[in-house]
Amino acid sequence: MPSLTKHDAWWRDAVIYQVYPRSFRDSNGDGEGDLRGIIEGLPYLASLGIDAIWLSPIYRSPNNDGFYDVADPRDIDPLFGTLADAELLIKEAHECGLKIIFDIIPNHFSSDHIWFQAALRAAPGSAERARFHFYDGRGEHGELPPNNWNSLFTGSAWTQVPDGQWYLHLFDPSQPDLNWDNADVHEDFETTIRFWLDRGVDGFRIDVSHGLVKEEILVDHRDPDLLTQALRIDTNDVTAEQRADLLSDMPFFDRDGVHDIYRAWRKIFNEYKNRMTVGEAFVYPTSRLANYVRHDELHQIFNFDFLLIDWDAEKIKEAATRVISELATVGAPATWALNNHDSPRLLSRLGSVDKARALALLTAALPGSLYIYQGEELGLPDGEMPLSARRDPIAIRSQGADLGRDGCRVPLPWSAHQVNFGFSLGAPWLPQMHSYGEYAIERQVKEPHSFLNFYKKTLELRKRHPALGGDGSITFLDTKPGVLAFTRVPGLVVVANTHDERVVMDVEATSVLHTSGPGVGFASEVLTLPPHTTVWLQR
Ligand code: NOJ
Repeated sequence: MPSLTKHDAWWRDAVIYQVYPRSFRDSNGDGEGDLRGIIEGLPYLASLGIDAIWLSPIYRSPNNDGFYDVADPRDIDPLFGTLADAELLIKEAHECGLKIIFDIIPNHFSSDHIWFQAALRAAPGSAERARFHFYDGRGEHGELPPNNWNSLFTGSAWTQVPDGQWYLHLFDPSQPDLNWDNADVHEDFETTIRFWLDRGVDGFRIDVSHGLVKEEILVDHRDPDLLTQALRIDTNDVTAEQRADLLSDMPFFDRDGVHDIYRAWRKIFNEYKNRMTVGEAFVYPTSRLANYVRHDELHQIFNFDFLLIDWDAEKIKEAATRVISELATVGAPATWALNNHDSPRLLSRLGSVDKARALALLTAALPGSLYIYQGEELGLPDGEMPLSARRDPIAIRSQGADLGRDGCRVPLPWSAHQVNFGFSLGAPWLPQMHSYGEYAIERQVKEPHSFLNFYKKTLELRKRHPALGGDGSITFLDTKPGVLAFTRVPGLVVVANTHDERVVMDVEATSVLHTSGPGVGFASEVLTLPPHTTVWLQR
């Protein structure tokens, strides 16, 4: 396995905690999390031993898609507070020793953005419409959309406006796609990037970073329905071969032209000190992810393998080896994420606390940077709720055929005894389950063996141990089927048992450093590992 070059850049091995602002903590009793709530929560965040927080979007928005429909990227939505609150949050996070990363959403604006409102008022062919993808329809009277693409949120990717033209939206109709062939779009995003960098933001997570450039807009796709299935990372309704075939020549994702945009952005970032970017991209084959993190483009790119990975030693080894070696070809560090605001929580996905802890411990020992999604450190399961309580456009547009992503967005439980588990004095925007009290932060802080204290210890050791917390090399060892083992230099061996049976094996090490669960035995270089357990051993 090639070893990665170590740079003096904080993000290369950082632990970055994703705050979903609406569900983190509410300071004013309206049932919606806000910036003052995040400020109140900073001591808790700092106590976790993380390096940075990434905030999902907080910009002015009609909120049709969890604030990923931005009406003004240089202002804060009143639901979250004010620009002054954002500046205070940046300052206070820095005072707590935490970097702060914002989300940026360049694929689309909200239909409430002044540009789109102006485009609606302007005539076909106008400069206002040229900032988006407006086209005449097909059919005798233009009554059919310009092509057969689907929205990722179900239904057509086109909506017709009163004068008969259609506009493209890969997501909700209230999220018109921007036209990156248009100079105004480039200029406006440069202004936004500088606006926040000048206010001290340490970096950006780039939404749909692979989607900005569209090609062959007036050509029908050969199989749009199957393509939609292939784009859903959480479904097995398409075979690996079908997915490979469909995703490798998509007209609206991962087009080569997108890299020119990031080369231009990188020049801006290089003018500032120690700032970073992380791209969200779903590309195939995964080796194409490395293109986004070449030396003059983005700093990090998410890989989605671990968001969906089975608790299976062979699959984990395959994914980790592939991701690390593909990114090493361009000298970029890997990123690892087990949860985010778009996917089922780890506990609900694996259905077992033991497996969730074991996978978390294994992942924290991999080289590169670790992303944690709020509530992951509590071992929180997904929330359940009726369709009527759901807010995700995926659930609403599909009328519940797809329940969408609300389950992982339910507000955090801070205290088992307070109203709404200490999240808010008002009714939370999504209902919390009764069982959430068991997971409350206040309760877990006091229990030595809680999920929270397990995470804290993991992060503390990751920071302290010379073999961890770096983006250096990793060597996988040959083991029994169902067992994963690797070494990190200097002096660490990690062994994970994904079997239902206990394993006994020889391991060259001196002592146990940390385990995901009880019952681990180690003496005279013989390790006894219970089912679904990971151990860190000192060499
Ligand atoms: C990816 C974001 O993570 C997701 O929440 C959002 O719905 C889409 N991009 C559209 O912006």
